[in-house]
Amino acid sequence: MNILLTGGAGYIGSHAALSLLDDGHKVHIIDNLSTGNEMLIPKNAKFTNCNINNEELISNLIQSNNFDLLMHFAGFIQVEESVKQPEKYFENNTNNAIKLFNTCKNNGLTKIVFSSTAAAYGLVSEDKLIDEHTNLNPQNPYAESKIKTEKFLFDNKDNFHFIILRYFNVAGADKKLRSGQISKKSTHLIKKISEVVVGKRDQIEIFGNNYNTPDGTAIRDYIHVSDLADIHLEVAKYLLRNLESNLFNCGYGNGFSVLDVVKTTNSIYQNKINYKFSSRREGDVEKLIADTSKLLNYFKWQPKYNDLREIINSSIRWEEKINASNT
Ligand SMILES: NC(=O)c1ccc[n+]([C@@H]2O[C@H](COP(=O)([O-])OP(=O)(O)OC[C@H]3O[C@@H](n4cnc5c(N)ncnc54)[C@H](O)[C@@H]3O)[C@@H](O)[C@H]2O)c1
Repeated sequence: MNILLTGGAGYIGSHAALSLLDDGHKVHIIDNLSTGNEMLIPKNAKFTNCNINNEELISNLIQSNNFDLLMHFAGFIQVEESVKQPEKYFENNTNNAIKLFNTCKNNGLTKIVFSSTAAAYGLVSEDKLIDEHTNLNPQNPYAESKIKTEKFLFDNKDNFHFIILRYFNVAGADKKLRSGQISKKSTHLIKKISEVVVGKRDQIEIFGNNYNTPDGTAIRDYIHVSDLADIHLEVAKYLLRNLESNLFNCGYGNGFSVLDVVKTTNSIYQNKINYKFSSRREGDVEKLIADTSKLLNYFKWQPKYNDLREIINSSIRWEEKINASNT
């Protein structure tokens, strides 16, 4: 396969690029490095530094390459920031994405894998695993911006063949430490915990200890980024073979509370993680756990890293690496 991949200087896009390259495919990355880092771009990938809204440059790129499919990861991802600056999110995650999809279509590239989010489900009223039919109830502009982009694809089913992937909480780092999370502003729990372990941060804040969960802290389904990357490989092959648009949840179907993650880390790293409780963050929800039956029924994908300790350990090994190189 020959893949045009946006956001490949970012956390998840770079891992997907590695997974594709490791499987023998070609990858051409587009990224404007707004939140990404050139260090994460895999050596064997081609790279063009540009905004996804650059119609002229991307048209030229598509015309001079024989891409089979677009994987679209580029976007802004900070929930709290989206509450403060919603327009920034609708502009990049919705308007720019639609512009990119239209540029692709106008140049004959109509197969798309799109990174969406479990935040689209938002507040789920029933106490059950979240399947793809669960009603959408977004709690913040970030999630809304992603739903609008999904809607564009659903409304344009005749023009595109697409697969939408709704990721649950992505964490961990490449086993060979070729990529991981770099962002200094990350709001991801396991990233922040890793920063405490290597001494970049004194403690973590736990937002909310009065949720309706066994220990009062919010519950999430953490999926290892390399397993998620491999899903993209399977999904791309499927889309090219079957030309069938579809939507899948990407998680493991396990829920861990914030305190579960802290305690697991403390059991490995001699109680290094100090924490304090703060009030809930605006836009946060109590519990998000995937029902993964559909994903497992369609694909032969089997997770390799479905283990919270492994996820935490890989994240910390990566943090040690970038700490040593002062990144
Ligand atoms: N990280 C998660 O847990 C998570 C969960 C659900 C969904 N997602 C989705 O996955 C995708 C990737 O997330 P990530 O965690 O890798 O984020 P990231 O910030 O690490 O990567 C995003 C990349 O996109 C690039 N980018 C942003 N806007 C751009 C533009 N207009 N033109 C060109 N490049 C642009 C950035 O420079 C960056 O390299 C996002 O679409 C996000 O919504 C992430």
